[in-house]
Amino acid sequence: MADKPFSLFIFGGTGDLAKKKLFPSLSRLYQKGYLKGLDRVYSLARSKKEDWEQVVCQLDAGLGKLCNFIPFDAKDWSSYVELGKAIEKLKGQELIFFLSLSPYLFEDAIRNLGRLLRDYTNPRKIVVEKPFGFDLKSAKKLNDLLYRYFIEEEIYRIDHFLGKDTVQNIFSLRFSNAIFEGIWNRNFIDHVQIVALEKIGVEGRGEFYDKVGAVRDMLQNHMLQMLAFTAMEPPAQMSEKFIRDEKVKVLKNTHVQKLIRGRYEGYLQDAGVERSRTETFLCAKVFVENFRWHGVPFYLMTGKALAEKLTQITLVFKEMPQSFTRLLDCKPYQNRISFQMAPESKLRIAFELRPPTGRFLACPVETSMEYLFPTEFEEAYEVLLLDLVEGDQSLFIRGDEIEALWEIVQPYIDVSDEPFIYQKGVKVPPPAVDFLEREGRSWVL
Ligand SMILES: NC(=O)c1ccc[n+]([C@@H]2O[C@H](COP(=O)([O-])OP(=O)(O)OC[C@H]3O[C@@H](n4cnc5c(N)ncnc54)[C@H](OP(=O)(O)O)[C@@H]3O)[C@@H](O)[C@H]2O)c1
Repeated sequence: MADKPFSLFIFGGTGDLAKKKLFPSLSRLYQKGYLKGLDRVYSLARSKKEDWEQVVCQLDAGLGKLCNFIPFDAKDWSSYVELGKAIEKLKGQELIFFLSLSPYLFEDAIRNLGRLLRDYTNPRKIVVEKPFGFDLKSAKKLNDLLYRYFIEEEIYRIDHFLGKDTVQNIFSLRFSNAIFEGIWNRNFIDHVQIVALEKIGVEGRGEFYDKVGAVRDMLQNHMLQMLAFTAMEPPAQMSEKFIRDEKVKVLKNTHVQKLIRGRYEGYLQDAGVERSRTETFLCAKVFVENFRWHGVPFYLMTGKALAEKLTQITLVFKEMPQSFTRLLDCKPYQNRISFQMAPESKLRIAFELRPPTGRFLACPVETSMEYLFPTEFEEAYEVLLLDLVEGDQSLFIRGDEIEALWEIVQPYIDVSDEPFIYQKGVKVPPPAVDFLEREGRSWVL
């Protein structure tokens, strides 16, 4: 429990993320008694928007009383002088600064805040939202700036995907069960598929998205994080340092062999741009070069405006050398383990069994497991905010890890080739179907 006194400062505390995720998550944590030490929550933005007040009204009443607003411009030093006046009153408390701002304001906020905090001895933490940088060079620059004022133990780089139960469950399933860990390698696994498909397009986010695209928005963070959890070695100890060390080792040995990019028809109108080379879809063949994964391809696919929302990791096992039974559908069969994160959280295992036919036949069956326990936390941000307050950095991205992530995708950023065009609502764009067919494989969706 977080009983030590602390106060939270949300820079951009009237924005979309604050309203939809941060405040509702804080409210639930507060209601459940997880934030006993919380003294004040300050929202900082240039204007106090009316709808922010409505959000505060809907919070747990106790939390609502702790909320304040400070008019603030992240670029303007005089705003930090005002912020200093609030900090004066919080002697001895831990101060948590959450940068829920446009990434274009991160540098100004870090530099000014760092300068201000030199006058205070309070313990402090700084949270930086994604995207952390726009490429390897800018991510390194942002890291250098952070290290000028903060130490790594005070820095929390967020990828909210890591707060999801199913992502952490990969870790639990792998490292708590002998039946899985023993087969988790190149001797048994043919290939791995990681997909994050979305039904929606870029509605409302076009201006931002056109500068980003799927490589930065999905591959550099969520997709490669799923890969890291799937491929990492067991940490020597279950502590944040060892967990993050193992993730970094995997990422430093990961490279993209081939990547194709697509864009849905109608994107230019949706995004409100005349011309663009930005991709809304990609699929890639990726290798992790180490003893465990040598020669095992990881196929990654993500895209917008597709037929269905689906986020899952599937491990496809090698074919059995010979089957003692005749297969009902006469196709060679490969076992599969799938971790599905969306639309539902579940684990699925597909294998072969004899149907009650009286003969030696086999047919594919699938077992699906959902959680037996009620979920304590509804939202990934609840998990991450609690870890932040408690000082557990396991699910946050370390400085060397963020640079390793950018290094993997750097060759595919700002490339000059035109993405292929696909129809809105298609299940998988045809070039991505061909991509896997040429490898003698098909997507498991
Ligand atoms: N929204 C999401 O679901 C989501 C999900 C994952 C990550 N993120 C990340 O979270 C961050 C915030 O995203 P968002 O969607 O909440 O953005 P947003 O809706 O545009 O909100 C931005 C906030 O920053 C404030 N702001 C803008 N300029 C400012 C300045 N110069 N000084 C101080 N405050 C300023 C805005 O209020 P004023 O204009 O009144 O100043 C507002 O409170 C981004 O880094 C984003 O990538 C968002």
